[in-house]
Amino acid sequence: MFLQDAYALDSGDFAARRSPGCETAGVRRSFDAARQEFFQGEARVGVRGMSGNVRAPAVGRYTTVAIVLHWLIALALLAQIAFGWFLETVPRGGPLRGFYVNLHKSTGLTLALLIVVRLGWRMANSPPRLPPSMPAWERLAAQSSHVALYVCMLGMPLSGYIASNFSKYGVKFFNSLTLPPWGPDDALIYSIFNATHVFLSYAFVALIVLHVLAALRHAMRKDGVFSRMSLSRR
Ligand code: HEM
Repeated sequence: MFLQDAYALDSGDFAARRSPGCETAGVRRSFDAARQEFFQGEARVGVRGMSGNVRAPAVGRYTTVAIVLHWLIALALLAQIAFGWFLETVPRGGPLRGFYVNLHKSTGLTLALLIVVRLGWRMANSPPRLPPSMPAWERLAAQSSHVALYVCMLGMPLSGYIASNFSKYGVKFFNSLTLPPWGPDDALIYSIFNATHVFLSYAFVALIVLHVLAALRHAMRKDGVFSRMSLSRR
């Protein structure tokens, strides 16, 4: 079968490309068989896709692990960002400041673990291809914004953690495990990493807004990109 036929079959509008005569069960079956054959062949040889990436398993959806990690981390990140902004309203030197800051540090470090697991999973598993109907600029925008999201996901906990090690407080992990600071109590170094933490939080929120808008655009276009990360299997 021709490659362009397979791409047409894979694209969200493949139903629209079928001629009316294709409605018979036999032709429909051969479409499905050809589609499967193409993907299996692709999985075996790891051909290069239109995005230029070598794809290992050519499936149309993200795996369940990837979907669960995506939504779990997305919710946890939004909560962590909201928690960080809430911290700014807690008076410094007040009785509750230490409690909330330590809780934020502890949830942030736990989230960092999840993020590392997700990154490891992402590096070991190629994502499904983008639909061939997507223009080159959109592919580039999607790939670069995903890289930027991962930079923020790693940079946020890392900058917070490093900053904490240049203050005398260190981290009291969920108030049960004390992680003493490995750096000196240095206000300048602390403020550099803290400023990075604050700057990244705004860059991160801007990227998340972009990411959500792009996802909604895919949902409206019904090109299959939104539904393949969806929790429901429709
Ligand atoms: C993904 C993980 C994390 C996210 C999304 C996050 C987010 C935030 C946000 C949005 C703020 C408020 C920034 C502002 O507008 O002023 C903040 C403050 C803060 N974060 Fe995080 N954070 C994370 C992890 C951590 C970790 C792991 C630590 C330390 C171990 C940490 C330590 C702090 C501290 C100490 C502040 C208060 C800074 C100050 O007011 O001086 N954060 N965080």
